[in-house]
Amino acid sequence: MVQTLGVALGLAMTLGAVVLHFAKGTGWEATEDISQDVLEKRAASVPETDFPEPYNRGIGGGAPAGAIATGESEGELAEGEEEEAGFDPDAISEDEVEYFEIEFAKEGETIEVANNETLLEAGEDEGYDMPYACRQGQCLSCAGHIDGGPASDFIQHSNNETLSDDEMEKGYCLTCTAYPTTDFTLETGEQP
Ligand code: FES
Repeated sequence: MVQTLGVALGLAMTLGAVVLHFAKGTGWEATEDISQDVLEKRAASVPETDFPEPYNRGIGGGAPAGAIATGESEGELAEGEEEEAGFDPDAISEDEVEYFEIEFAKEGETIEVANNETLLEAGEDEGYDMPYACRQGQCLSCAGHIDGGPASDFIQHSNNETLSDDEMEKGYCLTCTAYPTTDFTLETGEQP
């Protein structure tokens, strides 16, 4: 009796397996892989930069921080404006070092600043409370105002990614990358 039951059960299971094997599927299909589309859409939304591909996209692009955060940054150079050519302070040899009298108006002192020293460094050396953030000419935190005309008549920037020609024309400079070329009066903490 037990043997008959076992054989019947075995036959039933075998039959079930055969039926399932030949049965039609449910029609389910795997979802289409859209990962490439997503990657391409994301890449298209990131600003182009001068960084070599693909790293610029991998790190979210290299546009000025303000441009990403606000769309139109106060400091972003307008289209068509040339970024100021950088000046290299390391190219100044020891016998080419010159010193200029810079009056820090708000601090009420005049100090000597070398042509291979930034206004920011010189002010900090004196213990002045100078504003700054990036120290690379990429924001406006350190901006200051030079009395008496276009900033380019008094300083040269090693890097300027934020001030427009018009703002420099009005006397604004980035103290973190500005090196003096003559004497002048500087107002620290002044932004355009
Ligand atoms: S500290 Fe950012 S531009 Fe000078």
